[in-house]
Amino acid sequence: MNTLRLAPSILSADFARLGEEVRAIEAAGADLVHFDVMDNHYVPNLTIGPQVCAAIRPHVTIPIDVHLMVEPVDALIPLFAKAGANLITFHPEASRHVDRTLQLIRDHGCKAGLVLNPATPLAVLDHVWDRLDIVLLMSVNPGFGGQAFIDSTIPKLRQVRQQIDAYRASTGRDIWLEVDGGVKTDNIARIVAAGADTCVAGSAVFGAPDADGGYRTVMQALRTAAQSL
Ligand code: DX5
Ligand code: ZN
Repeated sequence: MNTLRLAPSILSADFARLGEEVRAIEAAGADLVHFDVMDNHYVPNLTIGPQVCAAIRPHVTIPIDVHLMVEPVDALIPLFAKAGANLITFHPEASRHVDRTLQLIRDHGCKAGLVLNPATPLAVLDHVWDRLDIVLLMSVNPGFGGQAFIDSTIPKLRQVRQQIDAYRASTGRDIWLEVDGGVKTDNIARIVAAGADTCVAGSAVFGAPDADGGYRTVMQALRTAAQSL
């Protein structure tokens, strides 16, 4: 198995102590900071924007993985790039011109990706493989942390894994496959076995108090569980 990347979602962090929280997850072994941006339009919730991204940037050296749940998308891309984002993903339903938005993200020096909701068909990937650095499959409907994993994500993951492997075989270029929503120690083995190489975990990580090294313990438990199949 290749190295699993863990991306704790700060949606479940203590927002009053965000700098401390992101430092704690990096110290505990996180590979990415997953940064959920919600606009009360594309999704029925409202979270954080570029200013908060810029505020946490000096607190971590790991990449910031910005998940845009906003509509429209394009105007926010330069702002997040300037705020120190390293990866930017968006939902194809939220952009009029998906190809253009993907290009825009790379033009601003970030890795680019599409996020597919549980009901979004894989066909949206068909004509943009060359523009993708990451595919993110939602395993819950976007908008809230702490929801239950939707099981139909597993066969979908297998399909995307096959497509990514075929793409790598013909181009030599790898594309990350990330999963977001309801990832826990009791399902991560199935998720990774189905082909995910990057897992978001919000409530699973931040639900554990860090006072006694809880974040490290949970992330180690996730990595160990991921290897158990
Ligand atoms: C949901 C967000 C997720 C969420 C994950 O819209 O994109 O990143 O915070 O949280 P858990 O791991 O609690 O499902
Ligand atoms: Zn997310």
